[in-house]
Amino acid sequence: MSLLHNRKVLLGVSGSIAAYKSAHLVRELIKRGAEVQVVITDAAKDFVTPLTLSTLSTRPVYSAFIEEEQKTYGVWNNHVEMGLWADLMVIAPASSNTLSKMATGACDNLLTAVYLSAKCPVFVAPAMDLDMYANGATSDNLALLKERGIGIIDADFGELASGLVGKGRMAEPEAIAHHLEEYLKASLPLAGQKVLINAGPTHEHIDPVRFLGNNSSGKMGAALAAAARDLGASVHLVLGPTQATLDLHGMQVSRITSADEMLAAMLSDFAQSNLTICTAAVSDYKPASRSQHKIKKTDEGQSMVISLEKTPDILQTLGTQENRKGYLVGFALETHDGEVYAKDKLARKNADAIVLNTLGKEGVGFEGDTNEVTVYTADGKTFSFPLTSKITLGKSLLELFMNEFNLTNA
Ligand code: C5P
Repeated sequence: MSLLHNRKVLLGVSGSIAAYKSAHLVRELIKRGAEVQVVITDAAKDFVTPLTLSTLSTRPVYSAFIEEEQKTYGVWNNHVEMGLWADLMVIAPASSNTLSKMATGACDNLLTAVYLSAKCPVFVAPAMDLDMYANGATSDNLALLKERGIGIIDADFGELASGLVGKGRMAEPEAIAHHLEEYLKASLPLAGQKVLINAGPTHEHIDPVRFLGNNSSGKMGAALAAAARDLGASVHLVLGPTQATLDLHGMQVSRITSADEMLAAMLSDFAQSNLTICTAAVSDYKPASRSQHKIKKTDEGQSMVISLEKTPDILQTLGTQENRKGYLVGFALETHDGEVYAKDKLARKNADAIVLNTLGKEGVGFEGDTNEVTVYTADGKTFSFPLTSKITLGKSLLELFMNEFNLTNA
């Protein structure tokens, strides 16, 4: 889901030929789930009609303090209310005239009055011909606005309406929407933090068609990954073979099959990671050798023996890495004496916390959509989380780790 979802965006449109792209920008913002209120200057109406913008935004478009048809009723467009309503304001296109008014505080139209009243972050996407853009007056105005905290969405280089080629084209609507999303992302609590998670089963192949594996769905790990992503972290999920439908957008996903491949993928990113969570149900053993051909049934005897050897313990290997700088969390799945085994794993695998699922209870375990866990930390604290969906639990666990390990916006 886009970070613009449910955000209230004030879109100011000023007089530039690029105003025709504002219609597309409204669509982009709406598509990402934002509510869009357009405020347009009189000059902009020559380039794009208010009717187009109001149809696309499904709201009336405002341009004057008192619209013609409202004069009889004494109704006015309250610029202060609009300024306070918005979570974000973006002026696109921002003409040289509007930029100049913003810099000096001139307030002779509704758009500049709304801008002066806005308490939210404000962005401008300048658009003008190359010489106007290069003029010292424009660059000074932009520098001043930037100094005051206005976000500048730089103009692009390219062909301009005048036929000339240079810098001055308004950034594309997708790029403007993306810029706003990146801004919102940077203010999230885990922005700048790297989170590495493994999830799902591993398959240890006996021959090309058979393997040792388990029913792990990867849902718990994917829920933690989604929670970390939503808190602003950059997430790398190393995922074993699973058929489950998982929310994986906005994260790096490495699909692997075996424990050896999972270890390699984890080691490639571990040194950079601020928080690593091992939820994977890694197979403890793998066939000592993998047959190149499908093993045929024979007529000899009633049994066959497959010789197994241990897979690497990924959590333990990470726990003992010399380059370890981040926090490390493991999972444990026990049928009895959970607390004893969980605490043993905490010490033996050198983790900072172990999340214990107790098997045998309805709704708890690695295939379903719900889970109930207890977290034991290396500094001796215990936290219990009652039965709930893995999605909700993922969020609660991530918040716990964020607080316990002091992970903050870097
Ligand atoms: O030792 P046990 O398998 O019970 O420990 C569970 C924890 O260790 C989980 O976090 C699991 O992801 C991890 N593990 C591992 N590599 C293995 C076996 C388990 O990383 N080969």
